[in-house]
Amino acid sequence: PRPRPLQTGASLVLSLVFISKVAQRSGREKERWLVIDRKVYNISNFVRSHPGGSRVISHYAGQDATDPFIAFHINKGIVRKYMNSLLIGELSPEQPSFEPTKNKELTNEFRELRATVERMGLMKANHLFFLLYLLHILLLDVAAWLTLWLFGTSLVPFFLSAVLLSAVQAQAGWLQHDFGHLSVFSTSTWNHLLHHFVIGHLKGAPASWWNHMHFQHHAKPNCFLKDPDINMHPFFFALGKVLSVELGKQKKKYMPYNHQHKYFFLIGPPALLPLYFQWYIFYFVVQRKKWVDLAWMVTFYVRIFLTYMPLLGLKGFLGLFFIVRFLESNWFVWVTQMNHIPMHIDHDRNVDWVSTQLQATCNVHQSAFNDWFSGHLNFQIEHHLFPTMPRHNYHKVAPLVQSLCTKYGIEYQSKPLLSAFADIVYSLKESGQLWLDAYLHQ
Ligand SMILES: *[C@@H]1O[C@H](CO)[C@@H](O)[C@H](O)[C@H]1NC(C)=O
Ligand SMILES: [Zn+2]
Repeated sequence: PRPRPLQTGASLVLSLVFISKVAQRSGREKERWLVIDRKVYNISNFVRSHPGGSRVISHYAGQDATDPFIAFHINKGIVRKYMNSLLIGELSPEQPSFEPTKNKELTNEFRELRATVERMGLMKANHLFFLLYLLHILLLDVAAWLTLWLFGTSLVPFFLSAVLLSAVQAQAGWLQHDFGHLSVFSTSTWNHLLHHFVIGHLKGAPASWWNHMHFQHHAKPNCFLKDPDINMHPFFFALGKVLSVELGKQKKKYMPYNHQHKYFFLIGPPALLPLYFQWYIFYFVVQRKKWVDLAWMVTFYVRIFLTYMPLLGLKGFLGLFFIVRFLESNWFVWVTQMNHIPMHIDHDRNVDWVSTQLQATCNVHQSAFNDWFSGHLNFQIEHHLFPTMPRHNYHKVAPLVQSLCTKYGIEYQSKPLLSAFADIVYSLKESGQLWLDAYLHQ
């Protein structure tokens, strides 16, 4: 039966039939609904104009999106006003809004924690922190150029300059992440502007591409076909126990996955940026007609061309550029994979927000070096629970998150940096072996 449309106001409580329909309205069908604060919204047309991207919101079609809604949006007042035009009904009081329902208490307590965190002012950024962070990147950038200018282009200054530039690229990568998550300024406009400057002008990459990928990752981390960060499954790697066994049982072998912990060193860290992202970003902006992003990117390539060509010539310039991308790629891949690849990877099982994030995410111990090297993404759990929180506050909320996890028997993993790197390789080896066993024997 068709649900009755809402006649007047938002107060009409629709039947159970209605909400069972919500669960069926998953992404593939034309009509998409989702639930926020027990209200049902028809997002069928809206997905295309959703500022955070159409995919990220569609990943919650047929589900309760209250907690991700709270987590991702600043200025919720404005957003809520707009949402009223999409409202089509309300859950009946006895209807649970997500599965499994046993985590309702956890969800309520997490929402209280969120309120506490806001009262404590932990969502407010220290602008001086981000200004100094930007300055340290600009200083490294100038130092890289001065190294060649002062000491010539022989091997030692050339290599030193490459290392400094890869630090610039990696650190600008962490800084653009702060602006992309709207965690620095209280208005979206300023965050977006600085985001374009850092990812576009300092790194030569499109903001829209990063948003498109990264918000999906945050909304459904380690969920197959929803988190683009695990898109390497199944064509390059077999990831996670569940998916690897499934792949083996289906007798699928796109790669000899039982060797993936070895070929990871070849096609993973050294290759992702210079061989893939560096080229794909141009395809992305052209295909989606993101001309503003392209203009920002061009300013980066023109700047480095004009500043390094006179010192190095064309061959030297291209050599330097790709060595920097190679070094940056290693830095980026080890750090970004350590928090998720060794964790639970699965299909989307529509579990509550806290469990979704905790089962897919682990931390790396705090230290001045680890904080700097990973751009505070060693506090990955806190970042995933509160993606718009400025990173200098993660360590303040961490003890509160830990006690919440202890209370509900949820594992909160934190490990040394090198163990976290090693765990990437171990988990690849393990899932490759599980794939092989299932492939041969099941
Ligand atoms: C949801 O929106 C779509 C697109 O506007 C529309 O075709 C559909 O009838 C709407 N469904 C309800 C229940 O309002
Ligand atoms: Zn993030």
